[in-house]
Amino acid sequence: MQRWKTLALPLFIATCFLYLFGIPGSGSSGEMPIYNKEYKSRKKPPVPFDHDTHAFDYGFACDECHHIYKMGRNVWEEGDEVRRCMECHDPKEKKGRVMKLQVAFHRNCQGCHKQSAPGEAPFRACYGCHVK
Ligand code: HEC
Ligand code: HEC
Ligand code: HEC
Ligand code: HEC
Repeated sequence: MQRWKTLALPLFIATCFLYLFGIPGSGSSGEMPIYNKEYKSRKKPPVPFDHDTHAFDYGFACDECHHIYKMGRNVWEEGDEVRRCMECHDPKEKKGRVMKLQVAFHRNCQGCHKQSAPGEAPFRACYGCHVK
């Protein structure tokens, strides 16, 4: 009984950790809703996004979505740091060539859906991604 008690708490914490953050070292958990609060006014609910299904099951390369542009070319390579979209794409305004965050997401998500999975992945219908 005593032994069970001493094990139960760490086990519970470990389970919560895995649930919240995914397997340590894998970089990210599978299901990660996209929700940035820094827009001028937040109109839509969070967008569910299954990261690992996109990266592994559908088999898209990391650099389909992650980039570092140098001289107009994406030079991101495996092992390079992955920064959040918002660190470069400002939520409030376009900065030079760098489009606003909302436009960046829409172009990335909708662009690929239209091209690679027409009729199957949400494209025009807002509620396909912005689920209530
Ligand atoms: C393919 C998926 C997808 C579709 C379809 C889509 N969006 Fe989005 N949208 C996103 C993602 C991802 C974000 C980024 C959310 C964030 O940064 O928190 C976003 C952000 C936004 C934002 C800025 C954040 C906010 O809540 O104010 C607005 C406004 C928005 N979308 C409106 C729309 C409208 C209107 C439509 C339909 C015409 C639409 N979206 C269709 C994926 C989608
Ligand atoms: C279909 C698009 C897509 C693919 C493919 C993809 N990612 Fe992502 N990844 C995203 C999006 C979107 C985010 C959320 C970025 C944000 O919140 O600004 C993200 C977040 C991440 C983060 C967390 C960054 C942070 O600081 O929160 C890491 C790490 C990451 N991706 C690594 C990878 C690796 C490694 C691969 C290839 C095995 C990969 N991604 C493939 C779209 C993708
Ligand atoms: C390190 C800074 C940086 C980060 C982080 C970043 N971007 Fe970009 N992004 C840029 C720059 C700079 C351009 C403009 C490239 C050009 O036109 O010369 C760009 C262009 C784009 C474009 C249009 C060209 C293309 O590659 O399709 C899309 C869409 C886009 N970003 C979406 C995203 C999304 C989604 C994320 C997060 C997963 C993200 N970006 C993270 C800097 C960044
Ligand atoms: C590089 C291509 C690509 C990008 C970028 C991409 N998707 Fe997808 N997405 C797909 C494919 C392929 C499917 C699967 C369609 C099918 O066969 O069911 C899909 C399916 C989905 C679905 C349907 C449910 C599911 O998971 O099967 C949602 C929701 C979704 N994507 C959200 C997003 C959001 C949000 C973004 C942007 C952050 C995004 N996707 C970016 C290719 C992409």
